[in-house]
Amino acid sequence: MPSKLVDPINGCFAPVTQAQSQILTALWRFPMSSRIPKSFIDDVVNRVDIVELIDERVPLKKAGRDYIACCPFHEEKTPSFSVSPIKQFYYCFGCGAHGSVVGFLMDYGHLEFVEAIEELARRAGMEVPREVSEFGAKTDLKALYTVLNSTADFFSRQLREHEAATRASNYLKSRGMIGQTAKRFHLGYAPPGWNNLTTQLSRGPYSQKTLIQAGLLIDKDQGRSYDRFRDRITFPIRNRRGQVIGFGARSLGDEKPKYLNSPETSVFHKGKELYGLFEAQAANRTLKKLFVVEGYMDVVSLFQEGVTNAVATLGTAATQEHMLRLFRTTPNIIFCFDGDKAGRRAAWRALETLLPVLKDGWVASFMFLPDGEDPDSIAMTKGGQHFLQIAKDSVNLSTFLFDTLEAQVDLNSLEGRARLVDLARPLLTTLTAQAFKNLALQKLVQISGMESTELARIMGGEERVFRPKMAVHDRETRKSRKPSLVRTAMSLVLYQPSLGTLVSDTKQLKDLDMPGVELLVGLLDLLKSNPTMSTGAIIESFRSHKYGKHIAKLATESPPVLEEGLEREVTDAIQKLEAMVWDRRLEVLMAKAKTDKLDDAEEEEFKRLLQRPSDGIDT
Ligand code: CTP
Ligand code: MN
Repeated sequence: MPSKLVDPINGCFAPVTQAQSQILTALWRFPMSSRIPKSFIDDVVNRVDIVELIDERVPLKKAGRDYIACCPFHEEKTPSFSVSPIKQFYYCFGCGAHGSVVGFLMDYGHLEFVEAIEELARRAGMEVPREVSEFGAKTDLKALYTVLNSTADFFSRQLREHEAATRASNYLKSRGMIGQTAKRFHLGYAPPGWNNLTTQLSRGPYSQKTLIQAGLLIDKDQGRSYDRFRDRITFPIRNRRGQVIGFGARSLGDEKPKYLNSPETSVFHKGKELYGLFEAQAANRTLKKLFVVEGYMDVVSLFQEGVTNAVATLGTAATQEHMLRLFRTTPNIIFCFDGDKAGRRAAWRALETLLPVLKDGWVASFMFLPDGEDPDSIAMTKGGQHFLQIAKDSVNLSTFLFDTLEAQVDLNSLEGRARLVDLARPLLTTLTAQAFKNLALQKLVQISGMESTELARIMGGEERVFRPKMAVHDRETRKSRKPSLVRTAMSLVLYQPSLGTLVSDTKQLKDLDMPGVELLVGLLDLLKSNPTMSTGAIIESFRSHKYGKHIAKLATESPPVLEEGLEREVTDAIQKLEAMVWDRRLEVLMAKAKTDKLDDAEEEEFKRLLQRPSDGIDT
């Protein structure tokens, strides 16, 4: 169900799905850019020209002040994709795709945020500086990578050399694993004992503190700590550059827990990482598709049996960040689940997670294994080919969606068909992929027999089909209302950032308790310290802000006035806002004067406020 958040710009309620708000909160709490200084991002975004960058990938034609092309993000024959050199921003009138140089590299080049910044820095001949991690304390990331890699080497050596390792290698053999596979995945053995790492790695750069920060030691108390992984097979988890960032570790028998994983650290984020992605990319020049399976052993066994393109989440359900990472790697993802009830439930959860972030062009499908099997057991007993054979029966996203919904209702009855629409509604309204959404709606028209315009109205994103009259009325008046002053000011400044420097002081504005004011003040303050920022650079600066999406959206709008009137419009809006601050203050003082006595300073302020030139204020 969509939950509601206050839209800071309009001050009205905009439906934001729960999933979206989760992403926003996550970004807010763990801004991805926290390790690259914000000022650097501003700088590098300002230095790279968006027209040049896009033109190298999608040839552009000049059209007036802007450049146009057929949109690379959806199929079209006539150009509706435009790039503005002034705003340093692109926008597609067809599919709504929009963003800065960073957004373009991420969506077109399938890069992660940090990778996009690195790419831009390379172009601009700059080096990316790194700073404080999101855990507050200064963490030396390089030291963490070094210690994690050394630990992986140490564990791998122990699998061959440690006196207790025979049990470990026998265990792996009993599961059908050959040495070459173990080597490929750099598997190892964490020997029994509480302080192997401290005695082995405490020399040189490997301080106890670093080992703790890397998640390898558990901090007990007063400077005492012990090994997290003991007497277990270790699976190093590598990032896309191949650096070890954490471990999964399996017990050799029935000891619980079966798997132990590294905790969250500055370099390891369970909700983002995919086990086996590095190995899959190393083994395949291009990845046409990826299988998403459940476990470490599934990935490794499939690989050994020739299916070298499987990855696993790390003991968690796939998150939206996983989805983005997967589809940025390749647009064709097959989610693999057990065929039992739990597997179907997990698949449904994956679908719900995917829908809000789904983009047109992404192909997701779902495959279900026979009861009691997992990819590891199939690969090891029947071979990789057998797994691929089962994969041929995978169903695509829309089929899975509608089949699952249809199974819950009786399509022969009117009530059943109405229920189907009701079940589909919350799912389809989260969709932002326009083409997919339209096709899904068409399909729903077929199944439900409901008229398409009526269905479109119901699915239009508005909250309820049958709403109390008041609410509907309220909604209509809101639509016809003029945009708020705050919104006007913000969209003008986003259209032409230099306008922001016309506002000399934001102190007054800060006192105004109105939706969006905080954001407007943030925007104006940002421009004060960086007066030459482009619209694109501003968008980037707000990327990790919880309302960054709103700002980006606002930047796609044309200004409400003609070019010549822009300056006046901004100063007017700001003056009106300031006047509102004064008025409110005046009210407070007058109220106080009635019941109480004003002190000297208040008296003074009161007089000053009364003297200010009054101008018509309409809000
Ligand atoms: N997992 C975990 N902690 C556990 C159990 C499982 O983190 N205590 C995660 C691991 O990533 C594991 C995945 O969930 O690989 C799947 O778990 P499960 O199906 O129980 O194990 P299998 O992968 O089948 O492991 P195995 O074949 O070794 O028994
Ligand atoms: Mn298994």
